[in-house]
Amino acid sequence: DNIVENAVEKLQSCTQIVDAARLLRDRAVVAFPTETVYGLGANALSNEAVEKIFAAKGRPSDNPLIVHIAKKEQLSTVASEIPEKAEKLMDAFWPGPLTIILPRTDEVASLVTAGLDSVGVRMPDHPIALALIAEAGVPIAAPSANRSGRPSPTTAAHVLADLDGRVAGIVDGGATGVGLESTVIDVTVEPPVILRPGGITRDEMEAVIGPVALDPSFQAGATETPRAPGMKYTHYAPEGEMWLVAGEAKRVWDKMAAMLREAKQHGRKTGVLATEETFEAWRAHPDADVVLSVGSRSDLGEVAHQLYAVLRDFDAHHVQFIVGETFSREGLGMAVMNRLEKAAGGRIEQA
Ligand code: TXA
Ligand code: MG
Repeated sequence: DNIVENAVEKLQSCTQIVDAARLLRDRAVVAFPTETVYGLGANALSNEAVEKIFAAKGRPSDNPLIVHIAKKEQLSTVASEIPEKAEKLMDAFWPGPLTIILPRTDEVASLVTAGLDSVGVRMPDHPIALALIAEAGVPIAAPSANRSGRPSPTTAAHVLADLDGRVAGIVDGGATGVGLESTVIDVTVEPPVILRPGGITRDEMEAVIGPVALDPSFQAGATETPRAPGMKYTHYAPEGEMWLVAGEAKRVWDKMAAMLREAKQHGRKTGVLATEETFEAWRAHPDADVVLSVGSRSDLGEVAHQLYAVLRDFDAHHVQFIVGETFSREGLGMAVMNRLEKAAGGRIEQA
């Protein structure tokens, strides 16, 4: 029975991939799983196709898209030059959650790169994504498959919730693994600079190519100073107003409790973004209506994997005011904190 079930499942996913690849060749947009988050794909060589991505997401047209390839031979179609450090990074981390900014070719649709002369390229580490791109026969431009501003989708259900009726199809590959987007590194400058922290850490890359710089917007220490709320930071945001509280554990607890109390006094439904370590205690707290754990502090991979689903869960519970704990910026913590800060629109309290 199990053998038959497995065979049927395999066959169904094959049919889905063949159908989706045909849609991509016909210049339609299709959502598909990668190891990071679900992507919303279109033929990267066609402006007509790529335009549909921006329309479906409601994405500003000045934000460039990542081009996904299945084999290294596809690189020359999209990139005009491969610096030595890029080559080393590809050998070390592809397929995987690393996007490399390279000089572009003229073949890449101009909408993909938003007028820039560079293009972001990555080879995703997911069997469905690789099969789909190979079957489509063209490089695939794909941003995360969420409505602009919302948390990125880590399940097909998240994609459907955001984009139902706006895409030609969704290939369902279950929950994604990493849960946060790829790291974006620019190797057209020296030293190379991380533009977005993600699944591959700075340390991992420095071990391969030497010194790597960080874009100043997410330098360590940014939690130490409270940030003014800024619209430009709103991204990955739940519908409720979210605040982060940083500092020593006991003071964080007291500050969060005080903020929850005030929100309750204003009649708002409250939520706590907790960890395994604090989950039970917050559940017992009278001012915390909805308490969700993103996992254990000792496993940032688990936190990354669950973060976006938890943010969406607050919306499902119609939470209006959310307070969240913060994390160390070590390793994957840099990406976790970057997404949390954006979800909170820069609202951080120092306890
Ligand atoms: O994990 C991921 O990277 C996912 C999956 C689907 O592959 N994709 C993703 O795409 O997160 P998106 O569009 O949500 O984020 C792309 C990021 C944006 O911050 C964009 O500004 C940056 O990459 N980017 C793309 N091309 C660029 C370029 N030529 N120069 C600088 N930044 C670029
Ligand atoms: Mg995105």
